[in-house]
Amino acid sequence: MKKKSLALILCCSLFFSFLGACGANIGSGMGDHATEPATEEEKLTVVGFSQVGAESDWRSANTESMKSVFTAYNGYELIFDDAQQKQTNQIMAIRNFIQQEVDYIVLAPVTETGWDTVLQEAHDAGIPVIIVDRMVDVSDSRLFECWVGSNFELEARKMCEWLRWFCVKHNILAEDVYIADIQGTIGASAQIGRTEGLQKAAREYGWNIVATVEGEFTRAKGYEATQQLLLKYPKMNVVYCENDNEAFGAIEAIRDAGKQVGSDIKNGEIMVLSFDGVKPEALQDVLDDSISCIAECNPLHGPRVEAIIRKLQNGETPQKYEYVDEDVFSAYEEIENVIVDSKEYPITLVTPELIERRRAEYDTGSYVEELPDNVY
Ligand code: AHR
Repeated sequence: MKKKSLALILCCSLFFSFLGACGANIGSGMGDHATEPATEEEKLTVVGFSQVGAESDWRSANTESMKSVFTAYNGYELIFDDAQQKQTNQIMAIRNFIQQEVDYIVLAPVTETGWDTVLQEAHDAGIPVIIVDRMVDVSDSRLFECWVGSNFELEARKMCEWLRWFCVKHNILAEDVYIADIQGTIGASAQIGRTEGLQKAAREYGWNIVATVEGEFTRAKGYEATQQLLLKYPKMNVVYCENDNEAFGAIEAIRDAGKQVGSDIKNGEIMVLSFDGVKPEALQDVLDDSISCIAECNPLHGPRVEAIIRKLQNGETPQKYEYVDEDVFSAYEEIENVIVDSKEYPITLVTPELIERRRAEYDTGSYVEELPDNVY
């Protein structure tokens, strides 16, 4: 009798601990935004993230997006390294991650070239590398698992289509368009794609490109470059900034020079075009006609990278190249969409409500935490 009840107690406790284990697995699937935090006994997945720097609002939002996802609560230990825009720092960081035997390396590369050696070292150490945002140009694509980021040339082509239609609707001849391109960091995918997109469109439509200068994606460089361009090229009537921070600097420089920022280039205003559309201030500039059009560049890659890591942990193969969907922002109702390579892209009308929504998202931090629709 005694033996029988002991066996029963043992069976029950085994059964309940089995149920408990199942529950724990379901509730704390690695980083699946579970309601239960990772328990202390669970081994955290160590992720080394080499970030370019903090040159722009886009970059800060991108860093926050990564940090908000790779938390101990979600089962991760994040080793974050800010490379201050230097590739040598990024290479050093990756070597440190290898030494620390991290589980995954995430790299947001400052430029495309120069990665073969260090990525080979990571590969030899058996550490999977995920590339995010800009691309790497390596001789063997097996050196990284996959890439997720923006189609920078498409962003530029959408922007140029918008400009073309704006000119058509306002009877502005192509030969009267004088554009200065303030580029991003030279050799970065975002710079390469945006510069190429503009140059192709200028050739096709007959616009004049008066200057192409480096702006490093910063406000200070955007200001400095525009100040000099205004002195050198009095005919310049469009400043094509390769990100919002450069645009903020350009707007300030134009105003400081006693000129008007705006879309009415027929009457002496200087049009500013830009990329990113991250901060509510940038969208407010669109509403105020200080920036005529912004092609969005989406920085919310944290959940996307985490989804990739989960796939790898489950033994699945993530898509090698994953482009994210992006908007175009303008306050001109007359252009509802643009067509690039036979595909139609809607233009999102900037309204006070849209800006308020973005401001609220910013204030509550939900902008960086939001799981984008196209997380696969
Ligand atoms: O690579 C993305 C670009 O880098 C963003 O457009 C820019 O703001 C950032 O610094």
